[in-house]
Amino acid sequence: MNSIAPIEMIKHIDALPALPEHYLAIKKVIASPEYEMSALVRAIRPNQTVSATILKCVNSTFFNPVGAPIADISKAIARLGLRQTERLALTSALMDDFGTPTSKIKTRTFWAHAYAVALICEQSATALHLNPEEMFSTGLFHDIGHLIQAIICDASFFEDGESCMSDAERHAAEIEHCGISHAELGAALLQQWNLPESLCQAVAAHHDVDSDILPARLCHMADNESLQIIGHETAFSAIESLIKERFTPCISEVLSRYGLSSS
Ligand SMILES: [Fe+2]
Ligand SMILES: [Fe+2]
Repeated sequence: MNSIAPIEMIKHIDALPALPEHYLAIKKVIASPEYEMSALVRAIRPNQTVSATILKCVNSTFFNPVGAPIADISKAIARLGLRQTERLALTSALMDDFGTPTSKIKTRTFWAHAYAVALICEQSATALHLNPEEMFSTGLFHDIGHLIQAIICDASFFEDGESCMSDAERHAAEIEHCGISHAELGAALLQQWNLPESLCQAVAAHHDVDSDILPARLCHMADNESLQIIGHETAFSAIESLIKERFTPCISEVLSRYGLSSS
């Protein structure tokens, strides 16, 4: 149906979203050589969604089982830890500015899935000698092509039960409805956003079980495993604890089941 290269197709989409400002602002703070907690607090506070997500998580039974409610971002960071706060801040900044063009629930479900895949990717990265931060971003952005598909073709395809399809059935349906897979579209968008080439390649191949790109196969594993752990109704604040309970203790077993090794 379509013979245009993904990057060319992306260039012709008028309503192409930009990488959200809040995400970039938080990334910039984290990458700064003078990075300290007070700078992260200043970057988080102006954004209601980011602040609310962090406070909701820190007051969940996992992080605050019996303590008094925490209503201050600095105290929340002290309780969650810096890296955990960064992950939540980056994910919720995307969730706020870059939702699906469908219902609120779908937006939450989309980013909850992305966050779970990102956490599994990050946790498994070290065992495979991959960069944990880049693997977190790979997981977070792996399905971003679905959002572009919803812009360029009938959004009802996105609303329908595509999660019940096999990889091959979904790929065929995407080609039929949109002319291109979400994996290729996502990778093209991430290229436009100037994200690392290695990340773009992993996203492009995240449904290719035979890919020779290790981050792509890791992302595929995380995609599958997250679906066993996170349901459609799982609260965002419960994802971290569910991954720690149900995935972290069996990382090596899962990696070997998928034939994933660094050699
Ligand atoms: Fe996908
Ligand atoms: Fe996915």
